[in-house]
Amino acid sequence: MKKRILLCAAFAMLTLAGWSQAPASPSFDDVLTSRRSIRNYDASKKISEAEVRELMKATQEAPSWANQQPSKYYVAISPEKLAAVQDLVGGNKDRIKNAPVLIVSTFERGKSGFFQGHQTNEVGEGWGAYDNGLSNCYLIMKARAMGFDTLIMGMRDADALRVLFDIPENETVMAVIALGYRAEEPRHPVHKALDNVVKFF
Ligand SMILES: Cc1cc2nc3c(=O)[nH]c(=O)nc-3n(C[C@H](O)[C@H](O)[C@H](O)COP(=O)(O)O)c2cc1C
Repeated sequence: MKKRILLCAAFAMLTLAGWSQAPASPSFDDVLTSRRSIRNYDASKKISEAEVRELMKATQEAPSWANQQPSKYYVAISPEKLAAVQDLVGGNKDRIKNAPVLIVSTFERGKSGFFQGHQTNEVGEGWGAYDNGLSNCYLIMKARAMGFDTLIMGMRDADALRVLFDIPENETVMAVIALGYRAEEPRHPVHKALDNVVKFF
């Protein structure tokens, strides 16, 4: 009897100490350095709509011009839509054929960079693209933190994607982002020397 009580107490202590908890989240630096563009996905691993919803919530934390939030997303998760998008990313098709989710990002024009309908400065609609890039950055970083991998694709057929997802004319189609699990470890790209890209004054 005494032995059983001791065993129960030990089990309770281990549980309280986090023995049965999920593995700890990766550090922010681990997310930054382990994120790579993945061009070969594991066909056996799926991602649920609930997981994609959690991921997309992160994009809403991104800053945007005057909080205009011009970014929009169109998520292909059904086999039919996935097959259709695969045909609209040119030479990327083979790279993302096993990705379980493909996400089209757009931004609404006339929002970021504009005040009362007038362009605020020389960058114009470039601010919408800027905001969309920021939002997509949150997406790919959160994806990595959740254990997923991504590939941003600028090579895509914007007109055909517009028809496929019924994207309104006032939105500019930007990237298609593949989401899935890496099937192989990617190479780390060569980066320019920091002093070539950062100047201190
Ligand atoms: C705007 C943008 C467009 C890109 N388009 C493609 C693409 O169409 N196909 C592709 O394989 N990679 C594409 N990439 C991925 C880049 O090639 C990749 O980010 C770069 O080589 C650095 O590698 P890393 O992402 O692993 O750090 C794109 C990246 C960005 C940011």
